Amino acid sequence: MEDQAENLREIMRKQASLQEKLVKSKEIKRSRIITVTSGKGGVGKTNIAVNIAIAYARRGKKVTVMDADLGMGNVHVILNFIPKFSLYHVMRKQKSMKEILTETEYGISIVAGASGISELANLSPDERQNFINEINSLGDAEIIIIDTSAGVSNNVLDFITVADDAIIVATPDPTSITDAYGVVKIIATKYESLNIDIKLVVNQVKSAASAKRIADRMTHIAGQFLNLKMEYLGFIYEDLAVANAVHELKPFMVTSPKCKASLCIQHIVERMEKTDIKPNGGLSLFKKFFN
Ligand SMILES: Nc1ncnc2c1ncn2[C@@H]1O[C@H](COP(=O)(O)OP(=O)(O)OP(=O)(O)O)[C@@H](O)[C@H]1O
Ligand SMILES: [Mg+2]
Repeated sequence: MEDQAENLREIMRKQASLQEKLVKSKEIKRSRIITVTSGKGGVGKTNIAVNIAIAYARRGKKVTVMDADLGMGNVHVILNFIPKFSLYHVMRKQKSMKEILTETEYGISIVAGASGISELANLSPDERQNFINEINSLGDAEIIIIDTSAGVSNNVLDFITVADDAIIVATPDPTSITDAYGVVKIIATKYESLNIDIKLVVNQVKSAASAKRIADRMTHIAGQFLNLKMEYLGFIYEDLAVANAVHELKPFMVTSPKCKASLCIQHIVERMEKTDIKPNGGLSLFKKFFN
C-alpha cells in the first residue's frame, strides 16, 4: 500500500516536471531565419536582404545579416565598411561567428562574407555542418537574414534548409524566372519533408500587375508540377534610387526611405510579420533532419 502511494507520487512529480519543461520550451525565444536566394545572379538579393533587415530594425527588431556568399560576399561593400574578420576566419576556426559580428550605423549587425576565396565556395560536409552550428551562436538576434550566392550549390541548399522562410528572388527577365523555378524544383524534390515556407519576391518590375502575372504563373506551376505551395510575398519596383544608393555605398532604405523600392520593402516586411514561424522549423528542424 505504502509502495503504491509512493509510486503514484513519483508519477505525479514526473508529470509536473515535464509540464514545467514544456511551458519553459514555449517561452524560449528563437531566431527567425530568413534566407534570400535566387537562381540567376545579380537579381537584387543582397540589396533585398540588407534593406529588409533595416526595415525590421526600424520596427524594433534585433537583426543580423549573414553574408553567406562564400565566394564573393559583398554585403559589407554596399554598407561601405571593410571587415577585419569574415567567415573565412570562422571556417578556419580562428574566430567564432559571434566574435566576427560587426555592428553597423544602421542598427543592424553583420556577419561579413568571404570575398574571392574560392576554396570556401565548396565546403566539405563537416565544414558545412560546423558552419551551420555556428549560426546557433547568433541566437541573440530575433531575425537572422542570410544572403546567399545565386544557384544551387550544396552550401546554398544548406542555408535554405536552416531557414524558416526561404525568399526566392526573380526579376521579369525570362532566364531569371526559369532559374528561380530550377531552385524551387530542387528544394521541392530534395527537401520534400522539410516543410520550409517558400516565398517569392519579384524584383525590378515596372508595375504591380506585371509582378502579379509572373508570380501567378510561378506559384501555379510550383503547385501543379511540384506540389509545392509557394507564397507570393511581394514585388519591388525598378527604381533608380536603388542603383544610386549602391553607388553611394548606402542602403536605399537610408538614402531614400520614401522611394518606391523602400515602400515595397516595408510592405514585404509587414507581410512577413503577419506570419508566425513554425515552432519546429529552422535550425531545430535542420538538426532533426540531419541527425
Ligand atoms: N529594384 C531595383 N531597381 C533598380 N535596380 C536594382 C533593383 N534591385 C537591384 N538593382 C540593381 O541590381 C544590382 C545588383 O543587385 P544585388 O547586388 O543586390 O544583386 P544580387 O542578386 O545580390 O547579385 P549576386 O548574385 O551577384 O550576389 C544593384 O547594384 C542594382 O544596381
Ligand atoms: Mg549578392
